[in-house]
Amino acid sequence: MICLSCTGKTIEENLEYIERYRKYLGIVEIRADFLRPSELDRLPEFPGKAGLPVILTYRKLEDGGSSSGSGASSDGGASSDSGASIDSGASIDGGASSDSGAAVEFSEIRRSDILMHGLCGGYRYIDIEDDADEEYALPLIAEAEKTGTAVIRSFHDFSGVPDCLFDRMIAASDGGRFIPKAAVMPKSTADLISIIKTSRKLTDSVEGKAAAEQGFILLGMGVYGFPTRVLAKALGSMLTFCSPSGAQAAPGHVSPDQLAEVYGYSGISRGSRVYGILGHPVMHSQSPLIHNGGYRSLGIDAVYLPFETTEPELFIRNAELLNLGGLSVTIPHKQRVIPLADRVDESVRTIGACNTLVNCGRDEGWKAYNTDWIGFLAPLAGLPLSGKEALVIGAGGAARAVVYALTKSGMKVTVINRTAEKAERLAADFLCSGGGLSAAERPDKPWLVVQTTSVGMSPDTAGDPLPGFDFSGTEVVYDLIYTPEKTTFLMQAEAAGCRIINGHHMLTAQAAEQFLLFTGCKASF
Ligand code: ATR
Repeated sequence: MICLSCTGKTIEENLEYIERYRKYLGIVEIRADFLRPSELDRLPEFPGKAGLPVILTYRKLEDGGSSSGSGASSDGGASSDSGASIDSGASIDGGASSDSGAAVEFSEIRRSDILMHGLCGGYRYIDIEDDADEEYALPLIAEAEKTGTAVIRSFHDFSGVPDCLFDRMIAASDGGRFIPKAAVMPKSTADLISIIKTSRKLTDSVEGKAAAEQGFILLGMGVYGFPTRVLAKALGSMLTFCSPSGAQAAPGHVSPDQLAEVYGYSGISRGSRVYGILGHPVMHSQSPLIHNGGYRSLGIDAVYLPFETTEPELFIRNAELLNLGGLSVTIPHKQRVIPLADRVDESVRTIGACNTLVNCGRDEGWKAYNTDWIGFLAPLAGLPLSGKEALVIGAGGAARAVVYALTKSGMKVTVINRTAEKAERLAADFLCSGGGLSAAERPDKPWLVVQTTSVGMSPDTAGDPLPGFDFSGTEVVYDLIYTPEKTTFLMQAEAAGCRIINGHHMLTAQAAEQFLLFTGCKASF
């Protein structure tokens, strides 16, 4: 289930959030720690008006709650994966001090009063933090059990993933009486793996099953935890939390429409094949959008995730646990992953970089490919490349894939680069010429100019990789950058009358090639 964490200051604001996303939601959570004091009296109305099962939650600050308490400030970051603290001292029985935001200290008694009052509204669940003072927690639990409200016992760790995660979940469940919930902050791939192993232990072990009799919620926060949010159902969690767009309630929350439309949340199960992109940083990647769209349009039971990592090896080692079918690889891991493969495609060996790892099964292991060079050639398809002159700017990893593709296509290639020695080395590897940016070998009127450096990429869009280059207007000018759509370099080329190509087509074409390697199916992106 997708659960929308409602952190509005008023009941109406929260109902608007629900309406905006209703078609995606199975459940909602109201964060009472965000409500204005004057709204707290209205908590019992909320479940009826929401028209969905509701979790009643009041978080204290240490657990990610609203620092402003009952609506004093607002939109910031409380977390449903986390809790509230200071509120403005409003009395729920009418004595609200003010809505002006004068904060008062958090108190257990106040929280307990607010939750107790809310319970008479017929909430499906109540979240009571597992470290809540027993004096207040026990009467709440008794009342909840009397009114048929299931109790979630939650804990939050913003500092990492505790070693005792499984034991803590078991303890929080109290023998299956409560729904244990944890939101923890993985800071590495090892931490992510540890959360996934704990989830598996909860779904597969005798002890875990007994504890999770009513369900459990186990989620990782932040960029390393993101996969657990998308895979929540596959990992056995009864729900995943989302925030309204622009009002993120916890680190790593996405909006319900993103989860549903981009990742296809409702279709993901334990059997779904998992793919993803390894990189650091990687959350900006457009690949999830491209690949997930392909799976859904072809009805393939798979999901593609951004995997933030500095330890790509751990993904290969835990392929079975993650049900991994293949991985895209981006900066800075394109070289590092090559030795991890059991077999290496010729293009990877020659280019010296791998952007695609395919899991060919237990017997055959992993095979490394490079689809960048194929993607690069896609927009040039049909053009008479053979025998023509090409000028390549840059001598990094991307340039190597480009030079591989161009020499394979029979072009006469010259590589120029800010650091001349790198261009010379690259040129030597591919038996072409190379040098500094104004090298003597530079052709006067190349048929094709390819820009492979990051110069001109957002946000530094003013950058010019080859200042003063005199376009004759006959060149085809290809910049691998796709943000912005038209770099300064491409604008200059276009103004001179050149045909221009940006990196977008290459991006989608290399992805289509990966898609074919991953799934055996052709997709048009
Ligand atoms: P990639 O894998 O994207 O090619 P890379 O291997 O780090 O990344 O290569 C970056 C390329 O962009 C190099 O050719 C680099 O030039 P140097 O070899 O002189 O470093 C080039 N580049 C990056 N920033 C540049 C800048 N500000 N001006 C000119 N060239 C630049």
